[in-house]
Parts: sequence; C-alpha cells; structure tokens
Amino acid sequence: MSKLNFEEIQGDILLGGLPKRAQTFLFFTIDPKRIQEFRTQLKKFVPQITTLAKVKDDRDAIEKSKAAAKNSTAPILSITGVNISFTKKGLTQLQLGLGTDDIVDVDFNTGMFSGAKDLGDPIEPGSQFTPKWDKNWIPGAIVKDATGKDVIVKDIHGLIMVTGDNPNRVENRLNEIKDHFSSASSVHQLEGNIRPGDQKGHEHFGFLDGVSQPAVEGVDDNVNPGQQKVPPGVILLDDTTQRPKWAVNGSFLAFRHLSQLVPEFNSFLEANAIPGLPPKDGAELLGARLMGRWKSGAPIAVTPYVDDPAMGADPKRNDDFDFEKTSQIRCPFAAHIRKTNPRSDIGLEVTKSNRIIRSGIPYGPEVSGKEALNGLTEKGIDRGLLFVSYQSNLGKGFAFIQRGRLSIRN
Ligand code: HEM
Repeated sequence: MSKLNFEEIQGDILLGGLPKRAQTFLFFTIDPKRIQEFRTQLKKFVPQITTLAKVKDDRDAIEKSKAAAKNSTAPILSITGVNISFTKKGLTQLQLGLGTDDIVDVDFNTGMFSGAKDLGDPIEPGSQFTPKWDKNWIPGAIVKDATGKDVIVKDIHGLIMVTGDNPNRVENRLNEIKDHFSSASSVHQLEGNIRPGDQKGHEHFGFLDGVSQPAVEGVDDNVNPGQQKVPPGVILLDDTTQRPKWAVNGSFLAFRHLSQLVPEFNSFLEANAIPGLPPKDGAELLGARLMGRWKSGAPIAVTPYVDDPAMGADPKRNDDFDFEKTSQIRCPFAAHIRKTNPRSDIGLEVTKSNRIIRSGIPYGPEVSGKEALNGLTEKGIDRGLLFVSYQSNLGKGFAFIQRGRLSIRN
C-alpha cells in the first residue's frame, strides 16, 4: 500500500486525535440560496483544517514539553484544532459536481434519524415530536420557531469541531469560523470538557476512557502489547472499494449525544453491590463487571477481584489481555468492552473490520454534593459523553456495534 498522506487526513481521526481539553461541536445548515458562496468560503477555509500532519507535530511538541518538565507539571501548550464533516444532506446541498456525491454507505445515506429504531434507540408514543420519539432522544437540533414553539431541524448539513487547551481559546476560534461561514447558520452547539484533576481522561461514571483503540498500520509506530493492528482501510476510505476518488482518506464520523445519569448509576451499584464484600467494594466490583475494567482502566479479565491502578495507567499492560472463551467468571459476556469488542470470543481476524477509533469527550458539570447525597441528577442538569467514532463503513463500525451485532454474531 502506498504511504498515507498525512496532509490529506483530518487530524481527529488518527494518532490520538486533536489534542483537546475543551471541544465545541457546531452543527450547521447551509443557506440554500447561498450555496455558491458557501463553496467559496469552504475552499478558503481548507488551510485552517487541522491535518493529521499538524496533529503529529502538536503531539510531538506535547511529549517534548512533558519530557522537559521532568518531575514538575509541564506547561499546557496553546493548541487549537478544527475539523469539518458533512452529512449526506450536506453533500447533496453542496452539489459537489465531482462526478458523484454518493459515497456508498447505506447508513450514511439514510441518516441516523431514519435508522434510529434499528440502532435500538427508544420510541415512545406520545412524545411531542413526530414521529413519536422518546422524550430523551434528540431527533435533530431543537430550536424555537417564530411563535416560540420547539421544532426539530433535521436538515443538518455538517459539523464543525473546534478543540483547544481551554474553553476561551475554543470560543474565540469558533467565533472566527462563524464569521467566516456567513452562508451557513448554526443550528445546534454542544460543549465538551475533559474532567478535572485526577479524573482527566475518565468519563463521567469514573472509568478511564480511550484505552483500547486499534493501531492503524503505517500510522501508529508504537503498538502496545495487546493492541490490535488494523489496515488503514478499516478507518479510512481507500480506493479498494467503490468509493468516489474525492472521498479517499476521509472517514465516516458517527456522533452521539449520550446523557449519563451518574448519581443514579452510583445508587444502582450501591443497591446491587456484589455480596460477600464490604458494600463499597461490592459496588465497585459490580461497576467493574458492567464495564469490563476497573475505574483505573485495569481489565478485569486480568485482575478480576481487585483493582490494579498501576496496570490501569500503563499502556504497555492495560490492553494486553483476551477473554476466556465461553467463560464469564472473570469478565461477563455483557460487560461493555466485551460486547463492543469480543476479541477472541469471535476471533480477532473476524472482528478486525468492526474496529472503530473513538474520539469523544465528556460534557456537563461534575456531580454536586447534593446530587451525590440524593442519588439523583438535579433537574436541568445534563452530563455525559459527546461520543465520536471514526470508521470507513458505518454498517461495520459504529452501527454494527451499536446494534449489538458483535455479541450475537455466532
Ligand atoms: C455513555 C456511553 C459510554 C460510555 C460511558 C463508555 C465508556 C467506555 C469505557 C470506560 C471504555 C473502556 C476503556 C477503553 O477501552 O477505552 C469503553 C470502551 C469501548 N467502548 Fe464505550 N462507552 C460508551 C458508549 C459507547 C458506544 C455507543 C459505543 C459504540 C457503539 C462504544 C464502543 C466502545 C468500544 C469499541 C470500546 C473498546 C472495547 C475494547 O476494545 O476493549 N462505547 N467505553
């Protein structure tokens, strides 16, 4: 395979993605009367898009700064990043004139809204929207119409993601971008932030996230023990399939706004703590068995009864495991990481094409003392995960995993 051109690949897809402490997701629509103008603005915007080559340099600079700081805290470098993606509706609206805008992916072409039922998203007759979706499911951007009524904007044409080392820098960069794209309007905006202190890198339930990612051949030089190698074509569109030429080196981005009821989750663990242990430890073990890892990141397939924080924090050890086929003594079949990547349960070769790169970020405030005490998320508070995954085929990657196809394949 020819060498990948890092200047052609957007930076969030590989090598750990855009460095981010804060990230804003801006969903936009293109004004149908100003398409030509949008195209011109997009062309001028291209040099601002953070490429994989830039991410490589940024990540090298971060590593150097950490090494130079030795035992003291390394300064946080001022780095921002910008990536852009389009929906099927956006591509159609753009009328690229590149021969075809059909990028040949069923899930992409039909869109997440029409595929929601198949993805297992809840439908609850009686909700205020048509079709009748569960009130907790956001079927598009919800905006107020002229009369102040909530309406759903389903015609989202694209997503601009801005990342940075702090929210102010992200906001400033985003404002410049909004000014630049005068032919588009923002319909929905979401802000994510990494969690504070020792929870950095952990999602809101408290588990270390972003541990198990596939290593992409020709991109990731340092492959950790246990890390599965996949050809670039699993994540990037390549020219071996019927994809149009202009799409090569792109990737499909799946986005999900996933709310997490953290105090309720913790109460559930306490109420159902595994017996025979002090209640706190029983709750901790139940959480670990639901996830397949301890909060530290240590896999229960290796250390099933006690946490090993040193292992959790060590990339050379925290992904170096497999599941015991047909046994769930160490790790339940239903553990999140076993359902989303069953490893040898199904066969590493078989599941290779189902691997995804995850690049999401938590959002929302930390749990307050009052919420922790009541075991209830306060009204009006929303926290969770702004989930992002990259794959070359949605039906094999995100959608396949979300539909639970991996766990029922045999
Ligand atoms: C709020 C929802 C979610 C939370 C809190 C969450 C959290 C986690 C955590 C803590 C891990 C283990 C650490 C790691 O390997 O990175 C993990 C792994 C993973 N998650 Fe999620 N996740 C969520 C939703 C999803 C969704 C929707 C998908 C895909 C449809 C997904 C796919 C995966 C995959 C593929 C892995 C890696 C499994 C492995 O290779 O061992 N997750 N997740």
